[in-house]
Amino acid sequence: MPRKLILDVDTGTDDAVAIMLAALHPELELVGVTTVNGNVEVRYCTDNSLRTLDFIGRSDIPVFEGMARPLVRADFPIPRAVKKSTGVHGLSLDIPDPVSIVQSRSAVEFLIETYRSTTEEIALVPTGPLTNIAAAVALDPKFAERVPEVVIMGGAHHHGNVTPSAEFNIWADADAAASVLAAGFRKLVMVPLDATHEALVSKQACDAMEALGTPAGLAASRFIGRRIKAYDANQPMAEQNAAPVHDAVCVAYLVDPTVITTEHRHVAVETQGALTIGRTVVDINFRGEHPPNCHFAFHADRHKFVAMLLDTFARVAA
Ligand code: RIB
Ligand code: CA
Repeated sequence: MPRKLILDVDTGTDDAVAIMLAALHPELELVGVTTVNGNVEVRYCTDNSLRTLDFIGRSDIPVFEGMARPLVRADFPIPRAVKKSTGVHGLSLDIPDPVSIVQSRSAVEFLIETYRSTTEEIALVPTGPLTNIAAAVALDPKFAERVPEVVIMGGAHHHGNVTPSAEFNIWADADAAASVLAAGFRKLVMVPLDATHEALVSKQACDAMEALGTPAGLAASRFIGRRIKAYDANQPMAEQNAAPVHDAVCVAYLVDPTVITTEHRHVAVETQGALTIGRTVVDINFRGEHPPNCHFAFHADRHKFVAMLLDTFARVAA
Protein backbone atom coordinates (compact mmCIF):
# COMPACT_ATOMS: atom_id res chain seq x y z
CA MET A 1 0.00 0.00 0.00
CA PRO A 2 1.50 3.37 -0.95
CA ARG A 3 1.99 5.85 1.86
CA LYS A 4 -0.40 8.81 1.57
CA LEU A 5 0.69 12.40 2.04
CA ILE A 6 -0.36 16.01 1.59
CA LEU A 7 2.32 18.53 0.62
CA ASP A 8 1.97 22.13 1.87
CA VAL A 9 4.33 24.14 -0.33
CA ASP A 10 5.60 27.59 -1.36
CA THR A 11 6.72 26.42 -4.80
CA GLY A 12 9.77 27.31 -5.44
CA THR A 13 12.39 25.18 -7.20
CA ASP A 14 12.98 22.76 -4.30
CA ASP A 15 9.25 22.46 -3.53
CA ALA A 16 8.75 21.54 -7.20
CA VAL A 17 11.30 18.72 -6.89
CA ALA A 18 9.49 17.55 -3.72
CA ILE A 19 6.17 17.57 -5.60
CA MET A 20 7.63 15.47 -8.44
CA LEU A 21 9.17 12.98 -6.03
CA ALA A 22 5.87 12.61 -4.14
CA ALA A 23 3.78 12.39 -7.32
CA LEU A 24 5.94 9.80 -9.07
CA HIS A 25 7.39 7.55 -6.35
CA PRO A 26 5.57 4.20 -6.47
CA GLU A 27 5.48 3.88 -2.67
CA LEU A 28 3.75 7.25 -2.21
CA GLU A 29 0.29 8.60 -2.98
CA LEU A 30 0.10 12.40 -3.13
CA VAL A 31 -3.47 13.17 -2.03
CA GLY A 32 -3.30 16.93 -2.55
CA VAL A 33 -1.07 19.98 -2.67
CA THR A 34 -1.77 23.11 -0.61
CA THR A 35 0.06 26.38 -1.20
CA VAL A 36 1.20 29.20 1.07
CA ASN A 37 2.89 32.59 0.82
CA GLY A 38 6.65 32.13 1.01
CA ASN A 39 9.32 31.98 -1.66
CA VAL A 40 6.97 33.98 -3.88
CA GLU A 41 3.42 35.36 -3.51
CA VAL A 42 0.94 32.57 -2.95
CA ARG A 43 -0.65 32.97 -6.41
CA TYR A 44 2.74 32.19 -7.98
CA CYS A 45 3.23 29.24 -5.61
CA THR A 46 -0.13 27.90 -6.80
CA ASP A 47 0.67 28.47 -10.47
CA ASN A 48 4.09 26.82 -10.04
CA SER A 49 2.54 23.79 -8.32
CA LEU A 50 -0.05 23.39 -11.07
CA ARG A 51 2.50 23.71 -13.87
CA THR A 52 4.79 21.15 -12.20
CA LEU A 53 2.01 18.59 -11.90
CA ASP A 54 0.83 19.23 -15.48
CA PHE A 55 4.37 18.89 -16.81
CA ILE A 56 4.85 15.42 -15.32
CA GLY A 57 1.37 14.20 -16.29
CA ARG A 58 -0.15 14.30 -12.78
CA SER A 59 -2.83 16.96 -13.34
CA ASP A 60 -5.18 14.63 -11.44
CA ILE A 61 -3.64 15.76 -8.12
CA PRO A 62 -5.68 18.70 -6.76
CA VAL A 63 -4.06 21.99 -5.73
CA PHE A 64 -5.63 24.25 -3.06
CA GLU A 65 -4.49 27.83 -2.48
CA GLY A 66 -3.75 28.91 1.08
CA MET A 67 -2.76 31.88 3.20
CA ALA A 68 -1.43 35.01 1.48
CA ARG A 69 0.41 36.54 4.43
CA PRO A 70 1.80 35.64 7.85
CA LEU A 71 -0.76 34.68 10.48
CA VAL A 72 -0.31 37.36 13.14
CA ARG A 73 2.25 39.97 12.25
CA ALA A 74 0.52 42.36 9.90
CA ASP A 75 3.41 44.77 10.53
CA PHE A 76 5.97 42.19 9.54
CA PRO A 77 7.25 42.69 6.02
CA ILE A 78 5.97 40.12 3.57
CA PRO A 79 8.98 37.78 3.39
CA ARG A 80 9.86 38.29 -0.26
CA ALA A 81 10.20 42.05 0.33
CA VAL A 82 13.12 41.54 2.67
CA LYS A 83 14.50 38.24 1.43
CA LYS A 84 17.57 38.86 -0.69
CA SER A 85 16.86 37.98 -4.30
CA THR A 86 19.44 35.33 -5.10
CA GLY A 87 17.78 33.83 -8.17
CA VAL A 88 17.22 30.47 -6.47
CA HIS A 89 13.56 30.39 -7.53
CA GLY A 90 12.33 33.20 -9.80
CA LEU A 91 8.61 34.03 -9.91
CA SER A 92 7.53 31.37 -12.39
CA LEU A 93 9.26 28.04 -12.88
CA ASP A 94 10.88 27.53 -16.26
CA ILE A 95 8.38 25.01 -17.67
CA PRO A 96 5.16 25.68 -19.67
CA ASP A 97 2.19 27.56 -18.18
CA PRO A 98 -0.37 25.40 -16.40
CA VAL A 99 -3.52 24.11 -18.06
CA SER A 100 -5.10 22.86 -14.83
CA ILE A 101 -6.83 25.22 -12.44
CA VAL A 102 -6.79 25.59 -8.68
CA GLN A 103 -9.61 24.08 -6.58
CA SER A 104 -12.27 26.43 -5.25
CA ARG A 105 -11.94 25.30 -1.62
CA SER A 106 -9.18 27.00 0.38
CA ALA A 107 -6.11 25.08 1.52
CA VAL A 108 -7.07 25.41 5.18
CA GLU A 109 -10.60 24.08 4.55
CA PHE A 110 -9.18 21.17 2.57
CA LEU A 111 -6.74 20.30 5.38
CA ILE A 112 -9.35 20.47 8.12
CA GLU A 113 -12.01 18.54 6.18
CA THR A 114 -9.59 15.89 4.95
CA TYR A 115 -8.24 15.04 8.39
CA ARG A 116 -11.71 15.26 9.94
CA SER A 117 -13.24 12.77 7.50
CA THR A 118 -10.45 10.30 6.73
CA THR A 119 -9.94 6.94 8.36
CA GLU A 120 -6.58 6.58 6.64
CA GLU A 121 -3.11 7.64 7.74
CA ILE A 122 -2.09 10.69 5.71
CA ALA A 123 1.25 12.31 6.54
CA LEU A 124 1.33 16.12 6.38
CA VAL A 125 4.49 17.57 4.84
CA PRO A 126 4.84 21.37 5.07
CA THR A 127 7.79 22.71 3.10
CA GLY A 128 6.99 26.43 3.30
CA PRO A 129 6.06 28.85 6.11
CA LEU A 130 3.67 27.17 8.55
CA THR A 131 0.79 29.65 8.17
CA ASN A 132 -1.77 27.18 6.76
CA ILE A 133 -0.97 24.57 9.40
CA ALA A 134 -1.23 27.08 12.26
CA ALA A 135 -4.56 28.30 10.85
CA ALA A 136 -5.86 24.71 10.78
CA VAL A 137 -4.68 24.21 14.38
CA ALA A 138 -6.46 27.42 15.45
CA LEU A 139 -9.71 26.59 13.64
CA ASP A 140 -9.97 22.92 14.59
CA PRO A 141 -8.98 22.13 18.18
CA LYS A 142 -8.61 18.44 17.26
CA PHE A 143 -6.47 19.02 14.15
CA ALA A 144 -3.16 18.14 15.84
CA GLU A 145 -4.46 14.86 17.20
CA ARG A 146 -6.00 13.86 13.86
CA VAL A 147 -2.73 14.12 11.87
CA PRO A 148 -0.60 10.99 12.32
CA GLU A 149 2.74 12.55 11.34
CA VAL A 150 3.99 15.99 10.35
CA VAL A 151 7.31 16.29 8.49
CA ILE A 152 8.45 19.91 8.34
CA MET A 153 11.22 21.36 6.19
CA GLY A 154 12.42 24.20 8.34
CA GLY A 155 14.61 25.40 11.16
CA ALA A 156 18.29 25.05 11.88
CA HIS A 157 20.58 24.48 14.84
CA HIS A 158 24.04 25.25 13.47
CA HIS A 159 22.97 27.40 10.54
CA GLY A 160 20.84 30.29 9.36
CA ASN A 161 20.00 31.21 5.79
CA VAL A 162 17.68 34.20 5.90
CA THR A 163 19.35 35.69 9.02
CA PRO A 164 22.41 34.55 11.00
CA SER A 165 20.06 32.74 13.41
CA ALA A 166 17.08 31.64 11.38
CA GLU A 167 15.97 29.48 8.50
CA PHE A 168 13.54 31.04 6.01
CA ASN A 169 10.37 28.92 6.47
CA ILE A 170 10.32 29.35 10.24
CA TRP A 171 11.39 33.01 10.14
CA ALA A 172 8.79 33.92 7.49
CA ASP A 173 5.96 33.16 9.92
CA ALA A 174 7.58 32.63 13.30
CA ASP A 175 4.27 32.93 15.20
CA ALA A 176 2.73 30.20 13.06
CA ALA A 177 5.79 27.99 13.53
CA ALA A 178 5.76 28.53 17.31
CA SER A 179 2.12 27.49 17.47
CA VAL A 180 2.68 24.37 15.32
CA LEU A 181 5.64 23.25 17.45
CA ALA A 182 3.53 23.68 20.60
CA ALA A 183 0.33 22.16 19.17
CA GLY A 184 0.89 18.61 20.45
CA PHE A 185 1.10 16.75 17.13
CA ARG A 186 1.45 13.00 17.67
CA LYS A 187 4.70 12.79 15.70
CA LEU A 188 6.59 15.80 14.46
CA VAL A 189 9.74 15.43 12.38
CA MET A 190 11.80 18.49 11.48
CA VAL A 191 14.21 18.46 8.55
CA PRO A 192 16.36 21.57 9.12
CA LEU A 193 19.30 23.07 7.26
CA ASP A 194 21.65 20.91 9.36
CA ALA A 195 20.36 17.90 7.41
CA THR A 196 19.56 19.44 4.04
CA HIS A 197 23.00 21.01 3.69
CA GLU A 198 24.43 17.48 3.87
CA ALA A 199 22.13 16.23 1.10
CA LEU A 200 23.70 18.22 -1.71
CA VAL A 201 22.82 17.44 -5.32
CA SER A 202 25.75 17.90 -7.69
CA LYS A 203 25.87 19.21 -11.25
CA GLN A 204 26.86 15.68 -12.27
CA ALA A 205 23.66 14.26 -10.74
CA CYS A 206 21.74 17.02 -12.47
CA ASP A 207 23.22 15.99 -15.83
CA ALA A 208 22.24 12.38 -15.10
CA MET A 209 18.65 13.55 -14.46
CA GLU A 210 18.59 15.39 -17.76
CA ALA A 211 19.92 12.31 -19.54
CA LEU A 212 16.93 10.31 -18.30
CA GLY A 213 14.92 12.20 -20.93
CA THR A 214 11.69 12.04 -18.88
CA PRO A 215 9.61 15.14 -18.04
CA ALA A 216 10.59 14.87 -14.36
CA GLY A 217 14.26 14.33 -15.19
CA LEU A 218 14.32 17.36 -17.46
CA ALA A 219 12.43 19.60 -15.02
CA ALA A 220 14.52 18.49 -12.03
CA SER A 221 17.75 19.11 -13.89
CA ARG A 222 16.55 22.59 -14.87
CA PHE A 223 15.35 23.51 -11.34
CA ILE A 224 18.36 22.06 -9.52
CA GLY A 225 20.75 23.53 -12.09
CA ARG A 226 19.32 26.95 -11.29
CA ARG A 227 19.82 26.30 -7.58
CA ILE A 228 23.44 25.27 -8.09
CA LYS A 229 24.24 28.50 -9.95
CA ALA A 230 22.55 30.61 -7.27
CA TYR A 231 24.15 28.77 -4.34
CA ASP A 232 27.62 28.87 -5.88
CA ALA A 233 27.25 32.64 -6.39
CA ASN A 234 25.54 33.67 -3.16
CA GLN A 235 25.65 30.96 -0.53
CA PRO A 236 28.45 28.50 -1.32
CA MET A 237 28.08 25.09 0.27
CA ALA A 238 30.90 22.78 1.42
CA GLU A 239 31.45 21.89 -2.22
CA GLN A 240 31.12 23.91 -5.45
CA ASN A 241 28.79 22.80 -8.24
CA ALA A 242 26.25 21.42 -5.77
CA ALA A 243 23.19 22.70 -3.90
CA PRO A 244 20.68 21.58 -1.30
CA VAL A 245 17.18 20.65 -2.48
CA HIS A 246 15.73 21.05 1.02
CA ASP A 247 12.07 20.18 0.55
CA ALA A 248 12.58 16.93 -1.32
CA VAL A 249 14.48 15.48 1.67
CA CYS A 250 11.20 15.42 3.64
CA VAL A 251 9.53 13.34 0.94
CA ALA A 252 12.53 11.01 0.69
CA TYR A 253 12.29 10.45 4.46
CA LEU A 254 8.70 9.17 4.08
CA VAL A 255 9.90 6.48 1.68
CA ASP A 256 13.10 5.65 3.60
CA PRO A 257 13.42 7.05 7.15
CA THR A 258 17.17 6.26 7.12
CA VAL A 259 17.69 9.15 4.67
CA ILE A 260 17.92 11.34 7.81
CA THR A 261 19.28 10.83 11.33
CA THR A 262 17.16 12.44 14.05
CA GLU A 263 17.37 13.20 17.77
CA HIS A 264 14.22 13.46 19.87
CA ARG A 265 14.38 16.88 21.53
CA HIS A 266 12.23 19.81 22.62
CA VAL A 267 12.15 22.50 19.93
CA ALA A 268 10.59 25.95 20.34
CA VAL A 269 10.57 29.00 18.07
CA GLU A 270 11.78 32.47 19.07
CA THR A 271 9.09 35.03 18.19
CA GLN A 272 10.41 38.12 19.98
CA GLY A 273 14.19 38.38 19.76
CA ALA A 274 15.47 41.39 17.85
CA LEU A 275 18.38 39.35 16.50
CA THR A 276 16.93 35.89 16.74
CA ILE A 277 13.33 35.99 15.52
CA GLY A 278 12.48 32.72 13.80
CA ARG A 279 15.27 30.75 15.46
CA THR A 280 14.49 27.12 16.31
CA VAL A 281 15.73 26.64 19.86
CA VAL A 282 16.67 22.96 20.18
CA ASP A 283 17.16 21.67 23.73
CA ILE A 284 20.08 19.42 22.77
CA ASN A 285 21.34 18.97 26.36
CA PHE A 286 17.93 18.65 28.07
CA ARG A 287 18.41 21.97 29.90
CA GLY A 288 14.78 23.12 29.66
CA GLU A 289 11.60 22.09 31.44
CA HIS A 290 9.78 20.59 28.50
CA PRO A 291 9.80 17.01 27.24
CA PRO A 292 10.85 16.31 23.62
CA ASN A 293 8.24 17.29 21.03
CA CYS A 294 10.23 16.86 17.81
CA HIS A 295 12.46 14.43 15.93
CA PHE A 296 15.07 16.92 14.74
CA ALA A 297 17.33 15.80 11.87
CA PHE A 298 20.98 16.63 12.37
CA HIS A 299 22.22 14.62 9.40
CA ALA A 300 21.17 13.29 6.01
CA ASP A 301 22.43 10.54 3.73
CA ARG A 302 23.23 12.27 0.46
CA HIS A 303 23.79 9.09 -1.54
CA LYS A 304 20.46 7.51 -0.63
CA PHE A 305 18.68 10.80 -1.36
CA VAL A 306 20.23 11.38 -4.79
CA ALA A 307 19.76 7.72 -5.80
CA MET A 308 16.06 8.01 -4.92
CA LEU A 309 15.67 11.16 -7.02
CA LEU A 310 17.31 9.49 -10.02
CA ASP A 311 15.27 6.27 -9.73
CA THR A 312 12.00 8.16 -9.35
CA PHE A 313 12.58 10.70 -12.10
CA ALA A 314 13.27 7.89 -14.55
CA ARG A 315 9.54 7.16 -14.29
CA VAL A 316 6.67 8.64 -16.25
CA ALA A 317 3.13 8.94 -14.92
CA ALA A 318 0.92 5.94 -15.73
O1 RIB B 1 15.12 27.59 3.86
C1 RIB B 1 14.79 26.73 2.82
C2 RIB B 1 13.30 26.69 2.63
O2 RIB B 1 12.79 28.00 2.34
C3 RIB B 1 12.84 25.82 1.49
O3 RIB B 1 11.62 25.22 1.84
C4 RIB B 1 12.62 26.83 0.39
O4 RIB B 1 11.75 26.36 -0.62
C5 RIB B 1 12.04 27.99 1.14
O5 RIB B 1 10.66 27.77 1.39
CA1 CA C 1 9.75 25.53 0.29
